[in-house]
Amino acid sequence: MSERQSVSDLDAFWMPFTANRDFKSAPRLLTRAAGLYYFSDDGRRILDGTSGLWCVNAGHCREPIVRAVQAKVAELDFAPTFQMGHPDAFLLASRLAALMPGDLNHVFFTNSGSEAVDTALKIALAYHRQRGEGQRVRLIGRERGYHGVGFGGLSVGGIAGNRKAFGPLLPGVDHLRHTHVPERNAFSRGQPDWGAHLADDLERLVTLHDASTIAAVIVEPLAGSAGVLVPPKGYLERLREICDKYGILLIFDEVICGFGRLGAPFAASCFGIIPDIVTTAKGLTNGTIPMGAVFVRDALYDAFMTGPGEAIEFAHGYTYSGHPVATAAALAALDLYLEEDLLTRGASLAAYWEDAVHSLKGLPNVIDIRNLGLVAGIELSPRPDAQGARGREVLIRCFEAGLLIRATGDIIALSPPLIISRPEIDTLIGGLANVLKALP
Ligand SMILES: Cc1ncc(COP(=O)(O)O)c(C=O)c1O
Repeated sequence: MSERQSVSDLDAFWMPFTANRDFKSAPRLLTRAAGLYYFSDDGRRILDGTSGLWCVNAGHCREPIVRAVQAKVAELDFAPTFQMGHPDAFLLASRLAALMPGDLNHVFFTNSGSEAVDTALKIALAYHRQRGEGQRVRLIGRERGYHGVGFGGLSVGGIAGNRKAFGPLLPGVDHLRHTHVPERNAFSRGQPDWGAHLADDLERLVTLHDASTIAAVIVEPLAGSAGVLVPPKGYLERLREICDKYGILLIFDEVICGFGRLGAPFAASCFGIIPDIVTTAKGLTNGTIPMGAVFVRDALYDAFMTGPGEAIEFAHGYTYSGHPVATAAALAALDLYLEEDLLTRGASLAAYWEDAVHSLKGLPNVIDIRNLGLVAGIELSPRPDAQGARGREVLIRCFEAGLLIRATGDIIALSPPLIISRPEIDTLIGGLANVLKALP
């Protein structure tokens, strides 16, 4: 059989976050993957510069994960975790908690990052109610934040294009200003020196709403989807301090940052900050099976474990919370991450990566470059009256040249699998440089 699979009709699949008509007029179909590479339906090898969608941290189709999934689906295809359990869900939660710093010792399983975020917001609200502060109902997000597409995550999210079609969203939500100020922090290498004081915006919202009404603040430690916004030095520390001062919970959304992306197991470990709740997904199973996990500190979990022992403490959960096959994928991914030191490998490659991505400075239309761990954002000037067109064209030309990159508007985001080597970094950045040089 030839590599090319025949797809007779592309019409029925309503594709997510995609310009459907544009895509279907010139589809880009991936049919196979191995290690650092995808293979397209016309038999071309594509270097994966984005770990799929920020999730395949150990590379594609890794043998131990494939085997674990195959074995589990034949052994225990499904088991409910409402009033029942299966051993691997408990084992995975314990192993994950041991990896997370501080006392983030309890894990609630979901099926996606969006569900992890909505779960975290619900835990925050219910926690305050549980301890007699039920008036703390406000949730604070941040401009340019992305927290998935559930109504909760959308409400605290700060990307206008994602929000505008869906009405007023949750009431009682406000947003911190974002931290990207190109006049002050363009072309920063790693964390910008300027901008810690932007966290004081939380003081402004406390003054406006009164701390007694605020349940939680949620931020991505490094904002990924809105274009790789790296937190200024001291910014997250300051947010933690202000939350502590007012009894506000701090939620880190680590759906992208978790599992080694920043060169440490989690952003919490990377920055040495213990949030009250951490949301994860994506790299949890190396992208193999959908799964998310929400980590909570002891004090939060303990606040729920009161009242009659036979009563359900938190009325929340998904049919597939802790699904056996997802759990097996996550356990195998975790083994691989630890065996190959992938959760810290990004740190050893970070300096090389930083030099490589900053070598793009000076190329046509490049107006900013940002990086941390094994993530980079390359911002291009938009075409007059055609916001996003340049980014889209770079994506298509890179794909034609055998590179998978991501474009959000005119910002190119790179986040390769953590198994990438220096020569492959050179291929990725060199290929992108050629595309940028040739762009009309
Ligand atoms: C920070 C963050 N939170 C939440 C989500 C939503 O995750 P999912 O697409 O698995 O629902 C994403 C997805 O990219 C994300 O980057």
